Amino acid sequence: MDIKTIGVLTSGGDAPGMNAAIRAVVRTAISEGMSVTGIRRGYMGLINADSVPMQMRSVSDIINRGGTILYTARCPEFKTEEGMQTAVENCRKMGIDGLVVIGGDGSFRGARDLSLRGVPCVALPGTIDNDIASTEYTIGFDTAINTVVEMVDRLRDTSQSHDRCSVVEVMGRGAGDIALHSGIACGALTILVPEVAYNFERDILQKMRNTLKTGKHHFIIVVAEGVGNTAEITRRIEAETGIVSRLTVLGHVQRGGSPTALERINASRLGYHAVKLLSQGIGNRVVGIRQDRVVDYDILEGLQMKKKFDMELYNIANAISL
Ligand code: ADP
Ligand code: F6P
Repeated sequence: MDIKTIGVLTSGGDAPGMNAAIRAVVRTAISEGMSVTGIRRGYMGLINADSVPMQMRSVSDIINRGGTILYTARCPEFKTEEGMQTAVENCRKMGIDGLVVIGGDGSFRGARDLSLRGVPCVALPGTIDNDIASTEYTIGFDTAINTVVEMVDRLRDTSQSHDRCSVVEVMGRGAGDIALHSGIACGALTILVPEVAYNFERDILQKMRNTLKTGKHHFIIVVAEGVGNTAEITRRIEAETGIVSRLTVLGHVQRGGSPTALERINASRLGYHAVKLLSQGIGNRVVGIRQDRVVDYDILEGLQMKKKFDMELYNIANAISL
């Protein structure tokens, strides 16, 4: 298949580094003699034929910017047969021969459905959650955990000064990677994640008592949002220990900000690889990074993979948080 014009879109929750990926896609495609059309607001932009031509200079001065210059959206309509057909027809009308989709696993499913309907897609992992099975790295995760660490370091100052307990709710409805990685990096006493059931007495109260016995009077507890009611966890800690406890919900601050160097480099590698595939007429792939190498899989195969929670890291965090 001869691909002359590629489309690029960002979909689902935005993630720092998406712009670096868009930049790599545009620049690589132009170098390969292809044209690029930016689709705005994810799959909604395909349904509304909301496109913008992308030139070499359209992507200047964005490598350092969080968010996505192409905007992003969640688009329920795209999941209906009618919406999907409109998207496919609009791809034809806009002259798009292949599409780079940057998003999370929902967006990957959308890319699979388009691929099955004859629009060759290459999907790049873009989500702060790091919850995509076909890759060890997702665009946005590194920046998000660094943001959490910076915020928790600040909380530690005030917690320590007041002998308090800080409960920090981080993002991740179904995945505990943000909690686990930021928790270990900021020295949390306890990390709660949706993948591992917890015991309030053993994992929180006993640990706090042991810490008190050894002369430390402040505590950091990091909880992924998917674990449940963090306000209730905080209230219960205070009620059962008598230690003043405060909840901080970091929220969407975790999704913003300038991408880290790692993010910019990996997003550039992924974007380059995606276009190289399409330039060889290869579509229906998901691209990722494993053991620091860029890899790609058939989109159906990629979607069938199961993500494993890093129990080894979780156990290390437990062992050294005393
Ligand atoms: P993310 O890509 O970050 O996981 P979502 O799950 O919200 O975010 O998915 C982004 C968009 O991808 C959705 O709004 C929808 O348009 C499309 N999408 C999600 N799930 C599917 C699915 N099962 N089949 C087809 N398209 C989907
Ligand atoms: O998938 C990314 C993510 O930031 C999750 O961590 C979080 O649960 C969700 O999106 C928040 O979604 P919204 O932007 O709709 O509030």
